[in-house]
Parts: sequence; structure tokens; C-alpha cells
Amino acid sequence: MSQDTEKKVAAEAAALLVEDGMRVGLGTGSTVAFLLPAIAARKLDIRCVATSVQTEEAARALGLTVESAAEVDRLDLAIDGADQIAPDFWLVKGGGAAQTREKIVAAMADRCVVIADSSKLVPRLHAPIPLELLQFGLQSTLRLLQNVMLRDVPPSPDGNVIADYAGAIGGPDALDTWLSSVPGVVAHGLFQPALVSKVIVGRGKKAEHLTRAF
Ligand code: A5P
Repeated sequence: MSQDTEKKVAAEAAALLVEDGMRVGLGTGSTVAFLLPAIAARKLDIRCVATSVQTEEAARALGLTVESAAEVDRLDLAIDGADQIAPDFWLVKGGGAAQTREKIVAAMADRCVVIADSSKLVPRLHAPIPLELLQFGLQSTLRLLQNVMLRDVPPSPDGNVIADYAGAIGGPDALDTWLSSVPGVVAHGLFQPALVSKVIVGRGKKAEHLTRAF
């Protein structure tokens, strides 16, 4: 079964979780591209916050109401893709360079649902871990981090540099703490299990609702 079929199946299952009156966070990426029309087709009265300019434009084009994240303090539900999903629900996100806004939106939401094709399930997380870095002091930040490759993409919508950490992961908890402690790191693509309420993965033509393995 193609990855696109699995992405669509997962996205359509997640769209059913959206209810009238909700405030909904919309993620970024090719899986979310299947989510947006599935939500729009339900013709619900909802207000959305988008994690990227691409998602905002696509959602508006489908008739969804998108509000500025600056005006919203909490969301009922956020739905987003992932690059890697470990059995304990640690995630790697940011293949599309949107991890900073995605993490903020996930934290805003009462529930965050991750949607993915089955290739995203991994036994353990591996490099690269996406990074968003401040331009100010960049060379020093790179020296402190080591094992970082700058990504050949435009700056983030917040004007920052996109890069990837290519070093060893070890325990994601320790890496999360260390990356967050380095001055100049705006955000990184490791998402803690506490940010994830549910994972819906497409497997063949079926959507599987996963629970966390501790
Ligand atoms: C965007 O920066 C990412 O976090 C995406 O959510 C992630 O890369 C998954 O993307 P796909 O749905 O395109 O695989």
C-alpha cells in the first residue's frame, strides 16, 4: 500500500475527532495536506490556528477560518504529522522545518493527535533532529552543538536558521534537555510523549489508533 494511501487514511480518521465549536491546531506536511480537505468537508463551525504559512494558505483556500496564534491561549485539539514515532511516543518532527510553531501549537492544545503512515514508526529515534537556531551568535551556537548541518532552505517564518543535529541520540530525554539548554537554540524537533495524546497510523487501508508502550 502506498504511503500516500496510509497518510490519507490516518488523516481522515483524525478529521472525525474534530467537533463543532472547537478551536483546532493544524500541523504541517504531506500528511496534514490530506487532513485539511477532510476537515473542510465536514462543514463544522470551527476556528483554526496553523503551524505554517503553507498550512494557513491551504486551510483558508478550503474555507476554514484561521486565526492568529498570538490571539489564542488554548486549543481543544491539534493534529499534526511526524517524521519518527518511537513506541513510547517520543517524536522527531521538523522535516518540513516547522517544528518551533508545531511544538507551541501542540502545547496549546488540550489534546494533540499525531497522524502518520506506517513508515514513521521506529523502534528508536535516530538522527537527524531538526533545529531552529537564532542567526545572532550562530557560529558560537554551532560550535557548542557540534555535529550540526545547516539545511539549505529559506529561514523560518520567524527569521531563524534551520539546521539538523546529526550526533548520537542516546536517551531522548537527556538530548531534549541538552539541546534546550544551548543558547541560540530556539527549538528542536524532539517532542516529549507528554505532548502526544494519541497516534493514528495508516496501515494499508486501515487506521490504527495506537496507545503508548511504556
Ligand atoms: C513539519 O515541520 C514536520 O514536523 C512534519 O509534521 C513532519 O515532517 C511530517 O511530515 P509529512 O507528513 O510530510 O511526513
